[in-house]
Amino acid sequence: MSDQPIHRLYRHFKELPMSMRFLFTGALLALGMGYMFAMIYVYTSDAGRDGNPALTVEDIVISYSGTSDGTKIEAALQGPMSAMISTDDLAEILTWVGAGAGKDGYESTVQPIIAKNCLDCHDGSNPHLSNLDGFDNIQSVVEQDTGTDLHTLVRVSHIHLFGVTFIFFIMGFIFSHAWIRPVWVKSLVVFTPFLCIAADVSSWYFTKLYAGFAWVVLIAGGLMGLCFAVMWIISMYQLWFYKVPDHVSDRYKIREI
Ligand code: HEC
Repeated sequence: MSDQPIHRLYRHFKELPMSMRFLFTGALLALGMGYMFAMIYVYTSDAGRDGNPALTVEDIVISYSGTSDGTKIEAALQGPMSAMISTDDLAEILTWVGAGAGKDGYESTVQPIIAKNCLDCHDGSNPHLSNLDGFDNIQSVVEQDTGTDLHTLVRVSHIHLFGVTFIFFIMGFIFSHAWIRPVWVKSLVVFTPFLCIAADVSSWYFTKLYAGFAWVVLIAGGLMGLCFAVMWIISMYQLWFYKVPDHVSDRYKIREI
């Protein structure tokens, strides 16, 4: 352990100025909250698409490659939009979609339900949401679901890659001040999230081609979360509570003798 040389640029948290330790602590708190909201978002938008309330591989397959037995509106109403509609109204819509989503029954039953529950947001005024106003517009969501379209994936990919790099650069930079031996373990924890984000984002596209890649999405996401938790907990602990081993804190004293 102690025979592994300490790099001359290494500084433990306790050796940093107090202002930097507060800066790191603040950043950790904000990033930790951000990560929690991100997880809530994943659960509320993807979990439950397959009818099982947990986040499953099937949810991810549906989210990226679509489902062979459902339409966009069914996927949305059983997933992120489920809170927007009563069970009775949901049944009416599903029956109509199941029957082919034709003109029959649209005006009498479907249109009033949509007007009452959906048009506050889906009236076409927001360019990012499907316009559900009128029979012609609603066609885009009652066709077979082919998952998130490529254009959206490309948009989300670049946002994700930039965002995740910011998060894990800051996390890794803070964590680099922790005292961890052997050094390769520390380096692995710092580097793994970047591998995960690359695997994660590319698997969104591969999931469209082969559903098995949904496992990569799930595992890479989990591993990234694990690295985040490890770095967060160790950094926070060593910032304020940890006692640095003597051979580390005394490394300059020993040299002076
Ligand atoms: C409070 C605003 C709001 C209401 C009300 C609402 N939605 Fe949405 N809807 C959204 C948002 C925001 C998204 C994007 C969510 C996401 O990407 O996770 C969305 C996404 C969708 C999608 C998938 C993406 C798209 O735009 O095609 C469908 C389908 C959908 N909603 C249908 C409905 C239906 C049907 C209703 C009525 C029962 C409804 N929504 C009510 C805000 C709303």
